[in-house]
Amino acid sequence: MKTARTVVVGITGGIAAYKAVNIVRAFVLNGDSVHVVATTAALRFIGKPTLEAISRHPVHSELYEGVAEVRHVAIGQSADLIVVAPATANTIAKLAAGLADDLLGNTILASTAPLVIAPAMHTEMWNNPATVANVKTLRERGVIVVGPGVGRLTGQDVGAGRMEEPGTIVAAALAVLDGTYVEKPAQDLTGRRILISAGGTREPLDPVRFLGNRSSGKQGVALAEAARDRGATVTLVAANLEVAEPSGISVSRVGSAVELNEAMQAAAPTADVIIMAAAVADYRPQTVREGKIKKQDTGDTLILELIKNPDILAALALGRTPGQVIVGFAAETEADDSRLLDLGREKVARKGCDYLVVNRVGWTQGFATDSNAILMLDRLGVIVNEASGSKMSVAQSILDVIV
Ligand code: CTP
Repeated sequence: MKTARTVVVGITGGIAAYKAVNIVRAFVLNGDSVHVVATTAALRFIGKPTLEAISRHPVHSELYEGVAEVRHVAIGQSADLIVVAPATANTIAKLAAGLADDLLGNTILASTAPLVIAPAMHTEMWNNPATVANVKTLRERGVIVVGPGVGRLTGQDVGAGRMEEPGTIVAAALAVLDGTYVEKPAQDLTGRRILISAGGTREPLDPVRFLGNRSSGKQGVALAEAARDRGATVTLVAANLEVAEPSGISVSRVGSAVELNEAMQAAAPTADVIIMAAAVADYRPQTVREGKIKKQDTGDTLILELIKNPDILAALALGRTPGQVIVGFAAETEADDSRLLDLGREKVARKGCDYLVVNRVGWTQGFATDSNAILMLDRLGVIVNEASGSKMSVAQSILDVIV
């Protein structure tokens, strides 16, 4: 028979407090022993009798009650898991600061049990830099943050900040208890359409040859996967990838710059974000031979006549739809940091994009490797991000800026 585990459910003062009843009930039905610690604000939204009936235990709220049993630490010490749902912006700030001015704060500080929080607040509060920093601090300390979801909020507004559904919170909490929890990335791109080009174009010379470049498509594919995992609907325009196409996204395969241009132009009008990670050939052979070029026809020197390809990024930036975010890449071989920055600033102005990801490339750098180091400039040439590491971690940090 399984032994009952002690779950402390902290309820704080948000309208989503009424949904916490279902969370308490789910733990009880699961056979866990549930103790509710509610803040006084929470009890303005939901009655103690309801929580006591459902949890089958007294509900505590006051710091100066039960002093003889040293309740302010006893509850936390007995917990196998603490779940705070809903967790308001105020409670999150208090947790980040380690405040213990109420019973819930004391309980959490006095406990070594895993802590799961389910934030619930309006979008503006969730996006406020103070909340962003507090949530980051808590995550760094190992707190598991479930949600928030995106959807209808208390008033007429819709956005991120809605408390995750009780079933999702309980499932995550039970997985934490069982040691099987795997964190789902923040769903901060839900409902967004992202168009990404990746790989390198090949410009045909004849039926068997092309002019190409060494881009493998790894960085663009990492961006597509990261955006998909963060909830976006992703379209990948893939030019000669040397890596597997990601699942769960729509892929359009292209070969040359002209084909890539057509695919991007066709998909651009419905995209919220466009990322041009592909390495595009600036020139293509003026004529593509019907048959193979033969040495006896060309002799010791072969001169190829090339014509300019369209600048796809510049055209997308020029024709952008309202609110569309356009991100370019700049592959540079410049070794000097300040000259690299100058080149990036000149390029972002020339292309007219919102952000430019500048990366150094060379014989052993940037292209075809598993790691990358980038600088990200905004349209005014200000550095807004510097990241290095795996192409996936670089992709996540690029998306953080876009979000
Ligand atoms: N790009 C494009 N169309 C082209 C050439 C480049 O859309 N014909 C895009 C790339 O996908 C990238 C950005 O423009 O996002 C910069 O590419 P890069 O090769 O660094 O710059 P170029 O414009 O080609 O300038 P240069 O090669 O002279 O540095």
